[in-house]
Amino acid sequence: MKAAVIHGPGIIKYDTVDDPKLKDARDIILKVTATAICGSDLHIYSGGVPQVRPMTLGHEFMGIVEEVGTAVKNLKIGDRVVVPFPIACGHCFFCNHDVPGNCENSNPDNYGPEGGLVKEKGGALFGFTDLYGGYDGGQAQYVRVPYGDYGPRLVPDELSDEQVLFLTDIFPTGYTGIDWGEVKGGESVAIFGAGPVGIMAAKSAWLRGAARVIIVDTLQYRLDKANQTAGCETILWENEKDVIEQIRSMTEGRGADVCVEAVGFEPDRNLIDRAKAVINLEKGSPKVLEACMSAVRRSGIVSVLGIYPTPYDNFPVGQFFDKGLTLKGGQAPAHKHIDTLLNYVKEGKVKLDDIITHRLPLSEVAHGYSIFKKKEEDCVKVVMDPWK
Ligand SMILES: NC(=O)c1ccc[n+]([C@@H]2O[C@H](COP(=O)([O-])OP(=O)(O)OC[C@H]3O[C@@H](n4cnc5c(N)ncnc54)[C@H](O)[C@@H]3O)[C@@H](O)[C@H]2O)c1
Ligand SMILES: [Zn+2]
Ligand SMILES: [Zn+2]
Repeated sequence: MKAAVIHGPGIIKYDTVDDPKLKDARDIILKVTATAICGSDLHIYSGGVPQVRPMTLGHEFMGIVEEVGTAVKNLKIGDRVVVPFPIACGHCFFCNHDVPGNCENSNPDNYGPEGGLVKEKGGALFGFTDLYGGYDGGQAQYVRVPYGDYGPRLVPDELSDEQVLFLTDIFPTGYTGIDWGEVKGGESVAIFGAGPVGIMAAKSAWLRGAARVIIVDTLQYRLDKANQTAGCETILWENEKDVIEQIRSMTEGRGADVCVEAVGFEPDRNLIDRAKAVINLEKGSPKVLEACMSAVRRSGIVSVLGIYPTPYDNFPVGQFFDKGLTLKGGQAPAHKHIDTLLNYVKEGKVKLDDIITHRLPLSEVAHGYSIFKKKEEDCVKVVMDPWK
């Protein structure tokens, strides 16, 4: 079959690889009909999250059930499903506590309680490096889905692939940022990053009754897209000081009730920031997280959706304590929210496909990664067809 395989930083190829096979009675094989590139894939593509051996990427995919393991009783060949991005067993301590990203069974070689730099990581994710289970991803014609009786959700025929594809990751992830923020109605929410995740957080903030939704980005075209698709107030990031001041001045000097970090450890940075990171032996920078901690009000909540894989010196723990902040972060518990969110889509309460800017055949995957990473061609979200 054809698949998008990473061969090292900046090198993603449209390769011919072996078809996946059932390995466990709970597996299914899915024929992929649509797949997308996520900002998380970009961290592997940049080398910031390393993967040494070639691997098929992709954790945002959906399709038609092609084969079912003998233990899978709730699905049959021909069913159409979307698949949440964490690989989770459905019955361990953490699955039972609705945090599938910490599943104790899906990542046997590299799982542990510590959450270290290169060991004792969390549960597995599709197509997301050997440290996270080493499973091939869904930017391919077929994919093996472990625990096929737990993750996949049936989708109604009347909804197109594009209408439901983002239930795999970015919609539940954006929603998680707002849920962690305990938005109940009337709050001010400031979202850093107007990428797909940030825009989905903005849509979710409105669904949960926020009074004000402000979104921040370094790129005007991303802010324009956020405004068109999620009706946000926008702030162009030129430097963190101005952004923080603007958010405070919009919120009676206090700061936003909730800040959502939807950028991660590889933000746009100036030369001074880059030099500081080199001196401190740091990979990337927590500067956007720090800006969130300044822009949120005292006793507010910061939801950290952007990925942070490494430790950082000088993290502002004094500010955390003085302001009495709550920080919540991690892989989003997609399984927890997917059914509620699928209902919102069915009921027409939210539209997800309006963020798509590029529809490409999988054969053009290298181009897709390149424009999404470099923010060229006003790219916001790339969806690929593995059969073209
Ligand atoms: N927690 C989870 O479960 C989960 C799920 C999906 C994605 N993610 C992570 O969320 C983050 C965003 O993903 P995405 O798909 O939206 O990626 P993306 O790269 O398209 O979006 C990031 C956005 O941040 C903007 N940005 C860069 N520097 C900035 C700065 N200094 N201030 C404000 N904005 C800045 C970029 O211009 C871009 O629009 C990534 O780190 C990704 O790995 C996490
Ligand atoms: Zn993702
Ligand atoms: Zn589990």
